[in-house]
Amino acid sequence: MQRLLFLILAQLLTTGTCDTNPGPEHAEKREGNSLGHWSYEDQDWSKGYELCKGESQSPINIDIRKTTLNKNLPIITLEGYNLPETESLTLSNNGHTVKLSLPDSMSISSGFSQKYVAAQLHFHWGSGTIPGSEHTVDGTQYSAEMHVVHYAAKYGSLKDAAEETDGLAVLAVLFQVGPQDNENYDHIFGKLQDIAEEGNSVHIPGFDITTLLPRQLHRFFRYSGSLTTPPCFQTVTWTIFNDTIQISQAQLNQLETSLKTGDHMMDSNYRHVQPLNGRTVFASFSAMASSRRMVPKVDSAESGGDDKSDSESGESHVYSNSSVDGNHVTLGETLAIIFGILFGCTALAFVIYVMKQRKRQRSNTERGQKVIYKPAATMEA
Ligand SMILES: *[C@@H]1O[C@H](CO)[C@@H](O)[C@H](O)[C@H]1NC(C)=O
Ligand SMILES: [Zn+2]
Repeated sequence: MQRLLFLILAQLLTTGTCDTNPGPEHAEKREGNSLGHWSYEDQDWSKGYELCKGESQSPINIDIRKTTLNKNLPIITLEGYNLPETESLTLSNNGHTVKLSLPDSMSISSGFSQKYVAAQLHFHWGSGTIPGSEHTVDGTQYSAEMHVVHYAAKYGSLKDAAEETDGLAVLAVLFQVGPQDNENYDHIFGKLQDIAEEGNSVHIPGFDITTLLPRQLHRFFRYSGSLTTPPCFQTVTWTIFNDTIQISQAQLNQLETSLKTGDHMMDSNYRHVQPLNGRTVFASFSAMASSRRMVPKVDSAESGGDDKSDSESGESHVYSNSSVDGNHVTLGETLAIIFGILFGCTALAFVIYVMKQRKRQRSNTERGQKVIYKPAATMEA
């Protein structure tokens, strides 16, 4: 209960707006250092990359009231994410982000109408007090954002899939700052000093990549968009998890200050939000029970309501909505519950005390012994 309250308080205190950057694109098209160079300072990328002014660009702001509930969205199931230590992963500074290569043994086995294979994950972040997620939710920008980039298995490679309409699927995770280090991220953040310079890379042993994701994957937003970096291909099916991940302020600082691009600090590497242009953003859960259009529900596709709290995981998951049907728990409700329980316990203790007193008096009287009455003043509940 305290934890829930704390998390809710933490949520309330965390502000910012959210943008997201898709990351699938960093893979090919590394503009090394010179010509064809694009930057986050000047985001008018369409001069060099026509598609960046397309109609289906990412990231976007997700306006929850305008999302469409779709209970038919299949549950996301990940396969091969628990990598053995013998798997060697490449962590690199490509001048735009820090990128971790992922083996093609990792995939999204269900969740889409076809299989998607993992290629890499990378991050977008801000600077100091400026948050740096790419996607925003109801105008809130989160501290940072991670993209796990997958390509449709049938195309055989990220490069070959990147320009196909159904070529890419990116899973996006939003970060919030919490009180504790999130040790799951130390595999990556602990190595950033070793790849400070653009072009640097190191190898790190495999680990369980699911530990980087929220425990509950069934609450998410889904829409069609683009890479959030040039060349901005409009080939990404986006999944933005509603549950966020918490990292500590120290870890966020590490991310924001360890890497360089050219001779500056690599920070604020997020793209600004792009116009929705009439696209539909689906929600897999009742993000807001009222005022939303609903897609007719198909019986079998219910997501099983496996809505157990993640709070035992210690650090990583923030729930904004906790009940199975996604009702929002407000601070007021939480306080009401806490005080309700406190009041209930006090009342119960009082009743038990009174009953014990009566019993004692009765048995004392029965035994005909001296009954010493204490002054009423010592009575307490
Ligand atoms: C998660 O969903 C809740 C309920 O709709 C919403 O208030 C909150 O902003 C969402 N957060 C994210 C990160 O999607
Ligand atoms: Zn990205």
